[in-house]
Amino acid sequence: MLKIINVAGARPNFMKIAPLVSAMKRRSADFHSILVHTGQHYDASMSQAFFRDLEMPEPDIDLGVGSASHAVQTAGIIQAFEPVVLSEKPDWVVVVGDVNSTMACSLVCAKLDVKVAHVEAGLRSRDRTMPEEINRVLTDQIADLLFTPSSDADANLIAEGIPRERICLVGNIMIDSLLGNLERAKRSTARMDLGLQGKDYAVLTLHRPSNVDEVASFSRILDALEEIARRVPIVFPAHPRTVKMIAELGLAARFESNRDLRLIEPLGYLDFLQLLSGARLVLTDSGGIQEEATVLGIPCVTLRENTERPITVEMGTNTIAGTNTAKIVEAARHALDNPSDKSSLRVPPLWDGHTADRILDALLEKEG
Ligand code: UD1
Repeated sequence: MLKIINVAGARPNFMKIAPLVSAMKRRSADFHSILVHTGQHYDASMSQAFFRDLEMPEPDIDLGVGSASHAVQTAGIIQAFEPVVLSEKPDWVVVVGDVNSTMACSLVCAKLDVKVAHVEAGLRSRDRTMPEEINRVLTDQIADLLFTPSSDADANLIAEGIPRERICLVGNIMIDSLLGNLERAKRSTARMDLGLQGKDYAVLTLHRPSNVDEVASFSRILDALEEIARRVPIVFPAHPRTVKMIAELGLAARFESNRDLRLIEPLGYLDFLQLLSGARLVLTDSGGIQEEATVLGIPCVTLRENTERPITVEMGTNTIAGTNTAKIVEAARHALDNPSDKSSLRVPPLWDGHTADRILDALLEKEG
């Protein structure tokens, strides 16, 4: 029996940890799972809604760290997680994604000589101004086992000198949640509640500090959104950080005066999945949404200069438009004028809904 601490902290972690927790429960003869929530995200709409939608058990341990500067938040997680590892003595700690919680908990394990496995390893944007890139590079350097979603991630790790025996290609864990919840998402009333049933619309998400923390970059994107909204209405479930910045940067009037650029509260997992799967287009600076759009065949315009997920461009529906107004408008126009043919949809290998079981098999094999 392997004792595993599964760590989740922020919104994009929950759909990655849920399939692992569920598979460990199903395979309880071999696995004992302890779920730790660092508390990096804590609002009901950013955290509890996902536990409910993903049918996850309450966390066994909540570190309650909350928001702060990167240094304070990371240090807080390190300080709070160390005694948990010391008292639980797990065989493995499993971390997912690239948020501060991922890196902080990995570092605790590396220092205590407790084995840590990183799920979604090897992704690289090669943009070190992005806080997540630092988290990715550091986590992969110190983790014992690196579970990758695609072969480009393996190549990145090899190029960084990581021994091949630490790398295990298992596919995309987030797609386990996506495929496992599509039917349930159909029963959501989100589209109806927003009056979008049977209508064309685009979905927008935007929260990267590089996009929303400065008035110049946010305004450039907003200029493009206003142009695109003339053609198709845009629904924008906004991250709390973005809502705060809209007010601080004096941009609220531009949303209030535009009925086709509709700012709404953040959505839970099932509601967002329903909204996304019915959209003509998604505009986003999220990483995970580029992957979900690839699997659902929804054209995706990424509002960043780079992506750590190049396979979504190579095989999927993703266009990296950057943050230049004209380029965003052109990418959206192209996507709307050339609707994707779902019969020619290409999904990367192993993005098949069975990644969690492959991870559990690999953990058992390592011990055996
Ligand atoms: C974090 C992740 C990012 C991920 C994003 C998804 C890092 C470095 N960043 O960014 O990779 O894409 O989550 O959401 O780990 N806030 C709330 N309520 C909450 C959480 C945050 O109001 O429940 C507000 C606070 O004002 C906070 C701000 O959002 O200061 C930023 O939160 P933080 O966790 O620092 O980073 P995110 O931008 O959410």
